[in-house]
Formats: sequence, C-alpha cells, structure tokens
Amino acid sequence: MDPARNTDVVVDLEVNGRSEVRTVPARTLLVHFLRENLGLTGTHVGCDTTQCGACTVELDGVAVKSCTVLAAQAAGSTVRTIEDASASTDGGLDRVQRAFWDEHGLQCGFCTPGMVLAVRQLLRDNPRPTDDEIRHGIDGNLCRCTGYQNIVAAARKAAEAGPTMAKAD
Ligand code: FES
Ligand code: FES
Repeated sequence: MDPARNTDVVVDLEVNGRSEVRTVPARTLLVHFLRENLGLTGTHVGCDTTQCGACTVELDGVAVKSCTVLAAQAAGSTVRTIEDASASTDGGLDRVQRAFWDEHGLQCGFCTPGMVLAVRQLLRDNPRPTDDEIRHGIDGNLCRCTGYQNIVAAARKAAEAGPTMAKAD
C-alpha cells in the first residue's frame, strides 16, 4: 500500500462565511469533510461516483460535485453549502428554494439540496433559460421521485422571480 494514502493533511478553508481548519486523512473527499468534520449534512451522498449530484456545493462560486474533490484540493477556497443558501430576505428561503416550495419541486427531498445549487448555477449562467436549457442545466443531478416536471417548473419560476429575492446569486 502506498504510505502516502494514510498521510494526514491540514485543510484550511472558508465554509459558509466561517474559517474552518481540520486535520484529516489526505484521501478525505470534500463531501465527507463537510458532513463528517463540519456536521453540514445538508450536502448528501447519493453515489460517491459523480453520477447523482446530491453532493453539489459551491466552490469559489461555482457549483461542483463535492465527491469529485479532495478536501485538500479545496484548501484556501470558499465553499457554500445548502445550509447557507437559505439565508435570504424571503422568509428564510432564497428564490430557488421558494420556487421549489411553490411548484412542489421535491418529494423525498434527497436530491433537493444539490438540485437547488445546480439551478442557482444555471441561473447565474443563463438568467432566463428555456425549458430545454433548464433540463440541460440539471442533467448532472438525478431525482428518483419527481419525474423532473416540477423541478423544471421551479427553475422557470425562479428565473421569472429575478435575482432580487435572493441574498446572493
Ligand atoms: S454523491 Fe457526488 S455525484 Fe453522487
Ligand atoms: S425528490 Fe426524491 S430524489 Fe428527488
């Protein structure tokens, strides 16, 4: 076995506006770092193999699948998870979350944190997407419950709401 695989590393990064420093095994994935070391369990693990998008977070302002990133690779970066996305001026929900609520864009909710962050990324890239563009924008995120129709409707509604409802887009 490669002895380097057991090496601990110090990971120093900003998560949801807080500076966090932890010593973890070098092989620790960012998703496990967030959930197990920081207790941010809103970021889910659906597959661990880059398929489902349940682990999506914002890394330096860009949505990424946090099971594809080593915690050590994220050192020095800024991470935002679903726990921080809800801080807004709209009753505790940002415009995307509000739209998911209004359009029933979830059932079990397992995919929802990742979906919300994927839609936020989509709307940053394309503020007024067509339905086809919405479907393309979330095609890295799997949902086993909804059939996607209501998720697309939620993304459309969030786009129509414009950026003013959210704390940060
Ligand atoms: S847990 Fe990361 S893509 Fe599924
Ligand atoms: S709401 Fe259940 S997986 Fe999407």
